[in-house]
Amino acid sequence: MSIQDEVMQLRDETLASIAAADTTDALEQVRVAVLGKSGTLTAYLRSMGQVPKEERATVGKTVNIVRGEVEHALEHRKEDLSASELEAQIAAGAVDITLPGRMQQMGTRHLISRITDEIAEIFHGIGYTVESGTEIETDYYNFEALNTPEDHPARGLQDTFYVVDKSGAVKAVKGESDVLLRTQTSGVQAHVMENQKPPIYMIAPGKVYRRDVADPSHLPQFNQVEGLVVDKGITFGDLKGTLEYFVKQMFGEERKTRLRPHFFPFTEPSAEADISCGICHGEGCRFCKGTGWVEVLGCGMVDPNVFAYADIDPEVYSGFAFGMGVERIACLKYNVPDLRMLLNGDMRFLRQF
Ligand code: DAH
Repeated sequence: MSIQDEVMQLRDETLASIAAADTTDALEQVRVAVLGKSGTLTAYLRSMGQVPKEERATVGKTVNIVRGEVEHALEHRKEDLSASELEAQIAAGAVDITLPGRMQQMGTRHLISRITDEIAEIFHGIGYTVESGTEIETDYYNFEALNTPEDHPARGLQDTFYVVDKSGAVKAVKGESDVLLRTQTSGVQAHVMENQKPPIYMIAPGKVYRRDVADPSHLPQFNQVEGLVVDKGITFGDLKGTLEYFVKQMFGEERKTRLRPHFFPFTEPSAEADISCGICHGEGCRFCKGTGWVEVLGCGMVDPNVFAYADIDPEVYSGFAFGMGVERIACLKYNVPDLRMLLNGDMRFLRQF
């Protein structure tokens, strides 16, 4: 067989292998075998020196033409194979849009946050500002400036968690008051009266802490909204009217309010406010322990001693204050019998609101 014929045979075989290659990898193997450094066609190009002089020109031309044809065929086949391989890849990764989707658990605002906002909106609507305090508070603001000195028995009802320094001493800041997790938002009253001049109309929502064991009506950590009004000529009637307005906005027009005498160190006189029971409407039932009334908040006229701590002249100004538990308000609004139900994270329960 002449060299010419050999080259033509190699051409036919190569073109057939290219057509038969069914993956880009197989095609690459054909390319290397024929056109690679030690490929079969490359071998002819390298050995041109051994071809008799008179044939060299024709053989050289043929080899070059064949190389061109092979390169062309490789390129075409590669395009085809890449396209179908991509198609196969897309098909394998495709999503079946007719399958039912996986349900996403959408979060919602917790009832406690919603009620906090509702309370804030009611008071904001009658001109109150919304103030905030810190959950870590000094003994001075939590008790002292609220007319509750160290030996006062009212402290016993509000035991909490004191922040202790490295030596174990309860006095965390030398020479200053003890530091504790606040037991009430009432401390914000003292801060606001220190920093603002009357007239003051404010509420202060926030978390508070007590060393209480959780039961249907107690939680060791809960939320309060504090209220404080300081202005000229504020009377007990203003307090009562304001609370009645709040109760009707929050619980509905038909709800009645009553005030019972009570004691708080920072108000004089002090009272607890009750509302008519939402379940029996005053008849008496298990929810209201047969009384027809449920307690909503504590309140009273700001004690002159509290004004003294803040350098406000009680001869010129008077005021009232109140404090309510947000979880309690939420449970009263929706007749939930146990505060703990708000916190145990049962979505079937929480989704109802
Ligand atoms: N701080 C009181 C408590 O946690 C609630 C309270 C009662 C707040 C009377 C007041 C108030 O501002 O006047 O039990």
